[in-house]
Amino acid sequence: MTPGKFITLEGVDGAGKSTHIPFIADTLRARGREVLLTREPGGTALGEKLRELLLREPMCPETETLLMFAARREHLEQVIRPALARGAVVISDRFTDASFAYQCGGRGVPVAKVAQLEQWVQGDFQPDLTLLFDLPVAVSTQRLANARDPDRFEQEGADFFDRIRNAYLARAAQFPQRFRVIDSGRAIPEIQAELQAMLADV
Ligand code: TMP
Repeated sequence: MTPGKFITLEGVDGAGKSTHIPFIADTLRARGREVLLTREPGGTALGEKLRELLLREPMCPETETLLMFAARREHLEQVIRPALARGAVVISDRFTDASFAYQCGGRGVPVAKVAQLEQWVQGDFQPDLTLLFDLPVAVSTQRLANARDPDRFEQEGADFFDRIRNAYLARAAQFPQRFRVIDSGRAIPEIQAELQAMLADV
């Protein structure tokens, strides 16, 4: 059986990752792969309830971090691991790198705390491939300014997103074997051509 593959998509809000999800899924389906699209926070019934709280309800950074990982554990147990076990490609719109970027970089939660939660919730489990959509914060925040009903994260200022972008780029430099950084400021066909090459081994 073809082994399952776990692909995660990351980037600051407004960096354009959502635009490319259908293309990535179609590319892999055209090769005969079963593709499961999912997201964090969310991906399960309980996870989607936690998502609503996380995006709307005021809470302290530690609570936010714990709820992200609570949703993640459900997602892993109920959705991600079973799909990988049957040979699917699981594409998750965000995963644990987002906790290091947003909760550590953005909110200032110590990296060691998030690393402890990571170890507890997922052990050594990591994505096979992480696509980081990268864009200067001046551009991504401009895109967010047009959002209709901004959530708790989207309401934050450019400094917050600058710290998140830097944290993501630091993660990419730390784990070059699984990260691919995509310059999201280019025309869509150019990005798609690059994505196709990056997905060649999946
Ligand atoms: P989304 O808008 O990309 O679906 O993500 C929802 C928000 O949740 C986004 O602003 C990033 C944030 N987030 C975290 O802060 N930490 C996490 O671990 C995850 C998965 C998302």
